[in-house]
Formats: sequence, structure tokens, C-alpha cells
Amino acid sequence: MRDHNFTTEHNARHLWHPMGHPADSQANPPKIIVGAQDSSITDIDGHTVVDAVGGLWCVNLGYSNNVVKDAISKQLYDLPYYSAFAGSTNPPAIEASYLVREMFADDGMSRVFFTSGGSDSVETCLRLARQYHRLRGEPTRTKYISLKKGYHGTHFGGASVNGNNRFRINYEPLLPGCFHLPSPYTYRNPFNETDPAILAQLIAQSFEDEIAFQGANTIAAFIMEPIQGAGGVIVTDASFMKLMRDICDRHGILMISDEVITGFGRTGDWSGARHWGVKPDMMSMAKGITSGYFPVGAALVSDKVAEVFENDTTGEGAIFHGYTYSAHPVGSAAVVATVNETLRLDTKTNAAARGQQLYEGVQKLAQKHDIIGDVRGGHGLMMGIELVSDATNKTPMDGAMMKKIHQTAYENGAMVRLGMHNILMSPPLVISPAEIDQIINALDVAFGSV
Ligand SMILES: Cc1ncc(COP(=O)(O)O)c(C=O)c1O
Repeated sequence: MRDHNFTTEHNARHLWHPMGHPADSQANPPKIIVGAQDSSITDIDGHTVVDAVGGLWCVNLGYSNNVVKDAISKQLYDLPYYSAFAGSTNPPAIEASYLVREMFADDGMSRVFFTSGGSDSVETCLRLARQYHRLRGEPTRTKYISLKKGYHGTHFGGASVNGNNRFRINYEPLLPGCFHLPSPYTYRNPFNETDPAILAQLIAQSFEDEIAFQGANTIAAFIMEPIQGAGGVIVTDASFMKLMRDICDRHGILMISDEVITGFGRTGDWSGARHWGVKPDMMSMAKGITSGYFPVGAALVSDKVAEVFENDTTGEGAIFHGYTYSAHPVGSAAVVATVNETLRLDTKTNAAARGQQLYEGVQKLAQKHDIIGDVRGGHGLMMGIELVSDATNKTPMDGAMMKKIHQTAYENGAMVRLGMHNILMSPPLVISPAEIDQIINALDVAFGSV
């Protein structure tokens, strides 16, 4: 590894960073993170902070899980790679599929298709949804419905169902046949409705209206995050996902629950769908599936979907879709170790308790700081704080101020994430009460600095 001077000198010179302007990264070089332990990260200058981001909503087990690290290292020596395209497989992939299926059996899931990450998993679900309908003799079902403010990754399919225009406009035209409903976002919505249960009903009515307009027999799937993450941690009313499930059932539309963030305990339950008492037809997973230690994702399908593929005798049920790194042996070893550790540590229980602590702490900050327009959380370790420069008019806080708040929080002990004028938090699920307090204190100083 090159020395400190080389690293800082070349920072962002040759590397284009995702989700940022290349010129901005050059003008304001990113923080260089060199180490991590438990729920903390350390930068190249030796500054250590609690990681309220959890890497990127993914380091659920914290940074020091040696069981997962050892499993990865051992597998690298046993079998670093072999293809899992039909015709060959490997033992960790077989075990990983068994464990993941078992973990999500209560959600009705029965088969697992491994991918390299969340965008791949979403893409897999979208494609398999169309194929499912073709196999059942309804090839006209090709469209997708989703929610504004949703985030479903950056492949063309996922970007087409995404509900934030900053991930869309520069890459248009996107996939035809994708339509969006309002987000269950009580702070701002086209109905000016602040009651979450009424808003849920209004969006359900919009869904019915859209189906009537498009024709149910043209719609393949509805995709949603149980709690919208990157869009600002938008927590729905408890009735919302059930309402949408019911509508999907009545119109033969598959429900895809995008669990890339919410899967593996983050909401305080093993899945976001289970948190709301819903059984989807498909689930997209990633992140917590390996705690971020190795890039792996998975698309899960229910019995209902699996049967249609497995009972096909025409040959059309063949899945001509997949990735070089699908069911990667090292990734699969990471999945096996992560699932076992996740269950052993029962991370969902700590996520629920620490999530409540964080939520209550931020609600107290909201009483003190006028710039806090909306506080969203209280369902596990997902937290969104929407900042405004004028509370009455709900004027979004400008970018320069957001950066200042971010830096001040960092200097005072917490790495948080910015999503436009929102502060987003998703710390490791193993975080301690003292570390949650440290995040709240750092935010208190940061909010007081503007
Ligand atoms: C809900 C959701 N779906 C899909 C994705 C895309 O996952 P990836 O970045 O691993 O491709 C993300 C990423 O944050 C996500 O939050």
C-alpha cells in the first residue's frame, strides 16, 4: 500500500465516485476511511467516529465479525470461484440458499436466486415477474407500478421504477410501461394529507385508479420498499402495505417487496414485509445478506411463483438471466456465516431497541432545533431527519448548510449520510446505547452550528 502522501494526493483524481459530481469530488476530496472496528470507522488522519451510516445501510454486524471474515478467507483457499450457471454449483451456495430460504420461509419465500447486489436483485425480480405471467399465458402483463420517492437501484429496470428524478432524468429514456403512485410521505404529498392512515387510503385509491386506466391485464408487478430508504426514510402507516397487497391480489399483480435495506433485521423484524404483516410474491435482498463484507444479493420467490416455473414443461421456464458472480462460492460462504451470526446475535431485537432510542433522541432534538422539519423512524435502525431553513414554508435546507452540518457532526463523533436535505441514518444493528447517545450529541452540536 502506498503512503499517506500518495493516497491524499491522488484522492478522487482517477476514481469517479458513484452518486457525486466528479468535479466536486476533486474540489472537496472524500474522507479516506482506513479502518473500522465494531460500529466505528477511522479516517486517514486517525479521527474515529461512530458510523451512523452502517457503511451504506449494510454493515449490520458491525466491522469486527471474525466469523464472517474467517469464512471468507477459508473459502478463498478452498474454492475462490466457480460458475453457478446451470450445470455446476458449489457447497456454500447450496447451504446459503437453504439458510436464506429458511430465514424468509415465514414471508412465504421458497426459492433463492443469488446476484451480486441490490440492483441485480431488483432486475431479477422485474424480469422473472414478466416471465411468470408469460408462462401462465398472460404475456400482455409487462408493466410495472411503483412509488414516487422509491429507490430500486441503478440498472435500467430499477431506475425506471425509481421514484426520484435525480436518478432518472440524465439517463432517459427509461423502460416504457413504468408508472408511479404518490409516496406515503406525510410531510409533503399532493393531497396535503398529514394523517398517515388516510394518506395510505388515498394512495390505495390511486393504485386502483391507475389499474383501471392501464388495464389489469397489462400490469406485471408492483414494487415497493416496506420503508422507503434512500428517498428519505419514509415510514408508511401500518395499513399501507396490506392495502397494496390486497389490491395486487384482486388484480393478479405480483407484489415485489424491495428488502435491500429492510431485509435481515433492520426494521426490528427479519423482513420489512413481515414488519407490516404482509407476504409478498418476491423479495429483492442484498446489503445485510453479507453485512457488506462481500457483494451479494438475492431475489427470492414464493411457492406461487416457483410452481409456475418448476411445473413448466415447454422449456419456456428456463431462466436465461444471471450473473457471472451469481452464487459465488466466496460470497455464498459470506452469506452462510452472516445469516448464522445474524440469528445467533438476534440483531433484530437490538435494532428495535436502539432504533427507538435513536428516534426518541432525535425527537427531543426537534423540540430544540427549528431547522428540523420532519423526523422519521421508530421502526428499527432507519432514521430520516428532514432539514428546512424555514419551518413554516418547509423550505428545504440548502446544500452548503447540509455539508456544514455533516462536517460538524463528523468532527463531533458521528458519520451521517446526506440525501438532498435529509440526514439519513442506518447504523450497524449491533450498536450500543452509548454509541447511539454519541450520534445524538454529535447531531445536537451540528444542528446548533447553523
Ligand atoms: C431498496 C433498494 N433497492 C435497491 C438498491 C440497489 O442496491 P445496490 O446499490 O446494491 O445495487 C438499494 C441500494 O441502496 C436500495 O436501497
